[in-house]
Amino acid sequence: MAAVVLVGAQWGDEGKGKITDYLAERADVVVRYQGGSNAGHTVMVGREEFKLHLVPSGILYPGKLCVIANGVVLDPQVLVQELDGLAGRGVDTTGLRISDRAHLILPYHRGLDAAQEEHRGQAMIGTTKRGIGPAYVDKTARTGIRVGDLLDWEEFEKKLAHNVVVANELLAKIYNQPGYDLRAILEEYAGYTERLRPLIADGVRLVNRALQEGRKVLFEGAQGTLLDLDQGTYPFVTSSYPIAGGACVGAGVGPTRIDKVIGVVKAYTTRVGSGPFPTEITGPAGDALRQQGMEFGTTTGRPRRCGWLDTVILRHAAEVNGLTGIALTKLDVLTGLEPLKIGTAYRYRGEISQDFPASLKALQECEPVYEELPGWQEDITGAGSIEDLPVNCRNYIRRLEELVGVPVHLIAVGPRRDQTIVLKDAF
Ligand code: IMP
Repeated sequence: MAAVVLVGAQWGDEGKGKITDYLAERADVVVRYQGGSNAGHTVMVGREEFKLHLVPSGILYPGKLCVIANGVVLDPQVLVQELDGLAGRGVDTTGLRISDRAHLILPYHRGLDAAQEEHRGQAMIGTTKRGIGPAYVDKTARTGIRVGDLLDWEEFEKKLAHNVVVANELLAKIYNQPGYDLRAILEEYAGYTERLRPLIADGVRLVNRALQEGRKVLFEGAQGTLLDLDQGTYPFVTSSYPIAGGACVGAGVGPTRIDKVIGVVKAYTTRVGSGPFPTEITGPAGDALRQQGMEFGTTTGRPRRCGWLDTVILRHAAEVNGLTGIALTKLDVLTGLEPLKIGTAYRYRGEISQDFPASLKALQECEPVYEELPGWQEDITGAGSIEDLPVNCRNYIRRLEELVGVPVHLIAVGPRRDQTIVLKDAF
């Protein structure tokens, strides 16, 4: 199998970093296809922890081609910092390429993101304030500036001059915020251009050539299905398409090229930012799960809301992504919890529904229907095979597979590379 898409099946933060790292070792090419520096993937290499925001996780293996594809909104300031950080730790980053079709995040996008969040007041989305939404707004409004524009400085200057005027007007007149200085941005971005010039390439050709040559390509999704602009809990979503179809749009490959789609599922559910969350556990029990799972944002450090596994969400994810397998993460965090609960359906106005609703108002009213399963007390962090897992743990996995209708292929029982049980290889 040559092309595998890896997606988050919940609200992001499913532990994709670890699974991408595992699959990246087996891939030749790793492609990031959407989002931007709102993402944060944590990868453990031995005792060393790497937090990546933009660079595909494949960079930690020498000799891999890593592509930041056209669907990404790229903040060069973050990328340069990340490259410096990796170089400082001895990681070779020469395998990285950036698509000339990717859109740029500019300082006023970050300013607008923060101003708009403040303006929303109670209705705030809880964005990462990394400028993601405003950059995608420019892209769809057809006024965005692309990475390739950096290579034609006159063109870049012209587009930027126009956009800075518009952004400053918006900031001043609607949000009562200070504006940005065109010259300062030009100077800053001239520096980034010199630095990034050798990495800018035709990402669409690179990825398609690799597929034609039969090389193994991993498409690495950021965020998760419920943060997808169309399939998520709109408007409490991100501005891109984290679902598997997003890989086709965001990297310029046809759907016929994709062989498998692996959904990363955390053994429980978490969410950052605002919006309804039916299986949320509030109070001390929720705090305990947060501490046990160390559920604090990689990008913003915010505490994540925690709850039980919700298979209504996962069936939705299985459908909209066409999942062929599941990578189950952080199973060890459930050790010691008794009993375990799994959300199997929602009760909405007295009726039982198996389906995830489009309306947030309806979701807000949905009460989860739970099934209780006995937990396990044994430490599972050293388990090397499915047989090493306690019987109640195996039953939990089996029930998840039954309720979602997708087999589990990988199980993570701890953050290290070797704490992974492989039932079926993706490549
Ligand atoms: P934005 O992507 O910064 O615009 O934020 C929109 C929503 O997506 C907010 O609820 C964020 O908390 C959420 N979000 C964005 N990136 C991630 C992520 O990598 N993990 C989890 N939530 C995210």
